[in-house]
Amino acid sequence: MRKKILVVGSLNMDMVVRVKSMPLPGETVYGGGLTYLPGGKGANQAAAVAKLGGDTAMIGCVGDDAFGAKLSNELKAMNVDESGISRVIGVTTGLAVIYVDDGGGNSIVVVPGANHTCDTARIQLHEDMIAHCDYVLLQMEIPQSTVYNTIRLAKTMGKTVILNPAPAPTFIPEDILRLVDYLTPNEHEAVTLAGGDAAMRPEEAACILNGKGAGKVVVTLGGKGALLSADGTCTYFPAREVRAVDTTAAGDCFNGAFAVALSEGMDEARAIAFANRAASIAVTRAGTQNSMPAREEVDEISEIWNEK
Ligand code: ATP
Ligand code: RIB
Repeated sequence: MRKKILVVGSLNMDMVVRVKSMPLPGETVYGGGLTYLPGGKGANQAAAVAKLGGDTAMIGCVGDDAFGAKLSNELKAMNVDESGISRVIGVTTGLAVIYVDDGGGNSIVVVPGANHTCDTARIQLHEDMIAHCDYVLLQMEIPQSTVYNTIRLAKTMGKTVILNPAPAPTFIPEDILRLVDYLTPNEHEAVTLAGGDAAMRPEEAACILNGKGAGKVVVTLGGKGALLSADGTCTYFPAREVRAVDTTAAGDCFNGAFAVALSEGMDEARAIAFANRAASIAVTRAGTQNSMPAREEVDEISEIWNEK
């Protein structure tokens, strides 16, 4: 039987504007058109899991507007069980305004809307979904208290917890870090959570986070791949070389793929390599959920790499 992955997190309508370069403070620039795309870290990760063949469900909140209906319908169309997504009356669906520049980099402003109504009581309404899953995958675009209480609940039920601490708070309590099986920050988030500054290397940050209770830390390093820090050892996993056109949701793709790989019984090293391959495809395409690769695409690359 396939293991189940439950995503608990945010849904946003992404308003994406392409720009030549990011506007500086006080500067006005022209954008190359506006696109509305389904996004939000939680929904993106659920989409990545589903497109890679994982069995997934999501708990989250949208508003009672047209965007909310669109976001949950899109997930349903991708075979995500969306029965845990509440349409909250009288609030607007989460929005993200995203600039993507010619180098593929991005700058994002999130207006949380309904995501901030995703409180612990809402999660408790869907406790059965936690009971019936094997992995719980969370990010931090819903209230911190909800994230921490969900982790506590999931661990009392013996589930494997993956926490992608994005966007990163200044710290995560050590009693929570001890409950997280896999902490998956990007390099900036790792340094923030470790209390470091720009000079701190990701490896050092990961090691500090291990010391604070996070047993296994997987730091994503953009075009450099990812590292795993656990049991006093740090191992690097290089990224596949590609020409990135839009890195938005690269981390979401990585997290979804990592969860799928673990759910299929791969060990951490293979799961990270799989996630690197999946995310390397996502960054070659514009967009968020629409840029997530299908399973066959990742397997095709895997075969080529295995032959090397
Ligand atoms: P985002 O916030 O944009 O979703 P992130 O900052 O959370 O992304 P990154 O560390 O930038 O995450 O990237 C996640 C993963 O995506 C990397 O570990 C790598 O596998 C892949 N990736 C990102 N950028 C590139 C690139 N230029 N070339 C190849 N792979 C990439
Ligand atoms: O990680 C990318 C996502 O971050 C976007 O889809 C946007 O909605 C923001 O939440």
